[in-house]
Amino acid sequence: MSKNKQQINPDLEEYTKEQLASRKNFSLKRLFNYAIVHWPWFILSFLLIVLTTASTLIQPRIIQVLIDKDISILISDYESQVVKDIALISGAKKALFYLFTVIITFIGTYLQAYILNSTGQKILLNIRQNLYEHILKLPVSFFDRYPIGSLVTRVTNDTETLNEMFTSVFSSVLRNAFTLVGIIISMFLLDVKIAIRILVVLPILIIISLVFRNVMQKIYFAQRRLLSIINTKLSENISGMRTIQIFNQEKQISEEFDEVNQEYLILSEKEVRNFAIYRPAIEMIRSFVIAALLWFGGLRNLEGVLTFGILNAFIDYIQRFFNPILELAETYNIIQSAVTSTSRIFHLLDEPEETSGGKIAIPDKTLRGEIEFKNVWFAYNDSEWILKDVSFKIEAGQFVAFVGATGAGKSTIMNLLMRFYDIQKGQILLDGRDIKKYKITDLRQSIGVVQQDVFLYSGLVIDNITLKRENVSSRDGRKAAEIVNANSFICELPNQYNQHITERGSTLSVGERQLLSFARTLATKPTLLILDEATANIDTETEALIQDAIRNMANKRTMLAVAHRISTIADADKIIVLHKGRIAEQGTKDELLAHAGLFSILYKLQYERTE
Ligand SMILES: Nc1ncnc2c1ncn2[C@@H]1O[C@H](COP(=O)(O)OP(=O)(O)OP(=O)(O)O)[C@@H](O)[C@H]1O
Ligand SMILES: [Mg+2]
Repeated sequence: MSKNKQQINPDLEEYTKEQLASRKNFSLKRLFNYAIVHWPWFILSFLLIVLTTASTLIQPRIIQVLIDKDISILISDYESQVVKDIALISGAKKALFYLFTVIITFIGTYLQAYILNSTGQKILLNIRQNLYEHILKLPVSFFDRYPIGSLVTRVTNDTETLNEMFTSVFSSVLRNAFTLVGIIISMFLLDVKIAIRILVVLPILIIISLVFRNVMQKIYFAQRRLLSIINTKLSENISGMRTIQIFNQEKQISEEFDEVNQEYLILSEKEVRNFAIYRPAIEMIRSFVIAALLWFGGLRNLEGVLTFGILNAFIDYIQRFFNPILELAETYNIIQSAVTSTSRIFHLLDEPEETSGGKIAIPDKTLRGEIEFKNVWFAYNDSEWILKDVSFKIEAGQFVAFVGATGAGKSTIMNLLMRFYDIQKGQILLDGRDIKKYKITDLRQSIGVVQQDVFLYSGLVIDNITLKRENVSSRDGRKAAEIVNANSFICELPNQYNQHITERGSTLSVGERQLLSFARTLATKPTLLILDEATANIDTETEALIQDAIRNMANKRTMLAVAHRISTIADADKIIVLHKGRIAEQGTKDELLAHAGLFSILYKLQYERTE
């Protein structure tokens, strides 16, 4: 239990350091590059911010002049009626001017917020699109190490947070900074002596704000981390709901979730407490400053050095002076998350894209399908060789089977042919040329793969077969479905080919999913066919039908098949037996049986069992 806690709530200091280090990808310049195209809008917002700040800051000054000039004349016992009438009119003009500044502020703030938000959204659209296109080009090996959940977070949440950088941060920081500077200047213009005395409190304010900021940063980082743990747990558990229920894990899972949730609550309370101290502390200082001003200014007023108008204006400025400080401290969190999100997005954008391969194109249907592995060594990670010195040759048009124990490296060989990974030593030749010399898109187009685990999209059955590829019409799709015998089950669906299937095809049986995957692959009639346990979940009768269909398709194609069921590969031209990453033996079925090696043991085992 305590160990678990440790894992959830790490040392805040350590975690903060870690977070700060992860921001090395942050670059203002890069961010700027996204914004630069929209520069006229940013300039316009900037001008609007200046305008609205100026029009709010002039308000205390208008009242000051109104009090000191017009109102003091109006309440005076010594002025004539004529002078008083003039003062009344001039006072009314000032009131109108005040109203004008209020309207300007309103319209200016509205326009500025609108412009910044819509520009921010445009930038966001651009970044999100770039990010998504980039993810599509990342190599398969990238997805082995990057959790899918966090990729989704990058494209959705992080881009949204980044938007804050262009909207709230840009406007809030500018507006508050201008307001602070503007107020300081206005105070000096009013009365230098009083202004200097008031600014004495500035260092105190800065120190309090910095302390607050440091505490908040730690809490904030920890919160973000917990939130991501909560998200991951949620998404994993919801997708694995069936497993949870099979193993009666509900109680345990819910307790684990509760623990993280409690942890989050504690942090949130800490955050609330901090805010609850910070705001009143600043407010208290503000009240002290106003009290001191009333005392000091009151005395000077009695001495006749300071007018009521100026005193009132000072009180007004002080009231306004503290708001930007509070706001800046509170925007700090937004800046934090925006910086973190930005660096994460940049980090992802910096992941190297998959190579486009060599220059050689493979014009339609020109591949003969001759494959040779020459002393191939391959490892997914540096730690261990998965394929060790593998050599074999497959002639064009041959049907070659790979057998071997679980984890022997069969699917790995198929992955290498598709160039999902690159080998470390040796050479893979296709039609006598190194596969690295072919364009990757052409290579993959010429090879059809039916994989071990089928992926179906939520959508229509027919779209899952054609994949909306240009060279596959829905007629081709239906034909392919007929060839692999998927037609019969599809026709029993309520909407047949237009039946909507849910995420990952969970409403279909595993065999039905495999049939769809078969149809999808055969729809383009690829020259080279790779079947990785493609018929493992299909009944023997249907399997035989599919095999006949493939054999009867025009122009003989090279076929590589991985199968545990020996009947599937009984009439292969060649059988390659893999054992722990090495080729143990190869030959026809009869040769291997005569040889009395691994294959013959396997054969006997299966044969005896089925007898
Ligand atoms: N993406 C990967 N990253 C790291 N290691 C991997 C990866 N894919 C497979 N391996 C490892 O490589 C070895 C060979 O895996 P491979 O998928 O080729 O086995 P296989 O012969 O197809 O087995 P099976 O009959 O179970 O499908 C296994 O030990 C596996 O753990
Ligand atoms: Mg496999």
